[in-house]
Amino acid sequence: MAAPVPIAHDVSNLRAHLTSWRRAGEIIVLVPTMGALHAGHMSLVQAGKSHGTKIVMSIFVNPTQFAPTEDLSTYPRSLEADVAKFAEAGGDLVFAPSVEAMYPQGFATTISLAGPATAGLEDKVRPEHFAGVATVVAKLFNQCRPDAAVFGEKDYQQLKVLTTLARDLDFETQVIAAPIARDHDGLALSSRNVYLSAEERLHAPALYRALIKCAEAIKTGQPVEAALEEARIAIAAAGFAIDYVEARHAETLAPLDQVSGEPVRLLAAARIGKTRLIDNLAL
Ligand code: PAJ
Repeated sequence: MAAPVPIAHDVSNLRAHLTSWRRAGEIIVLVPTMGALHAGHMSLVQAGKSHGTKIVMSIFVNPTQFAPTEDLSTYPRSLEADVAKFAEAGGDLVFAPSVEAMYPQGFATTISLAGPATAGLEDKVRPEHFAGVATVVAKLFNQCRPDAAVFGEKDYQQLKVLTTLARDLDFETQVIAAPIARDHDGLALSSRNVYLSAEERLHAPALYRALIKCAEAIKTGQPVEAALEEARIAIAAAGFAIDYVEARHAETLAPLDQVSGEPVRLLAAARIGKTRLIDNLAL
């Protein structure tokens, strides 16, 4: 049995732990999550261990990044099981604030974003989403003042938004990227995969397979737009309604008509039944 992990429910309790660790010379790594932990989240914990000596995980279903039509009320919540998984993985502290602790009466500040946050990918479908993400992550960075924070490439646009945020606002936290953890058939692990019916789960890996095929086609010289169009057809044929399937500059997320040596990322989002899946792949 892993040693129990302490849970801080408010900032003063969080800081009490962190201050004594910092005095002892520990290097603190934050892994921000919304809970419903799966192997993808746990891979961030492992990645964090090579960058520090104490791993803090925040577990907070952040209401400001959900649109009124989205799944805030049904988003899976499992704090007890999450804490046990985190303890098993050798984590050190959970920060699980209440909504009132994060957004007290009178809260009035939101971070305004451009650059990768307005690339026309997730932001096209979820216009308020990244302002909510950036604001809560800025709060978490100030609350924890971690030496490093780990984010998954699964949410690739989010990773670029937060890397830009940390740079632009001079946070001393180093943003670390961790690769996408996938199921045996290639489906990117996600807390939202629990929404998939057995039938939908069977078809879901088509999203990743189409990205692999698209990357191969572009690498062997097929024009980018033609390769993307083939991917869109394959994804739609598997029963998805597509939000986007795009090839972008891997750093700026700017559109690309052709590839000529710059780093390229393929990014896709599509809905199968009532579940929205996102995935991406380096070329
Ligand atoms: P959440 O969706 O819980 O994801 C937490 C972190 O886990 C993110 O950095 C995400 O990219 C990473 N992650 C999820 N699935 C992954 C997978 N299959 N492989 C690798 N990493 C994976 O992203 C959020 O929460 C929130 O927006 C948050 C940053 C916590 C702000 O509220």
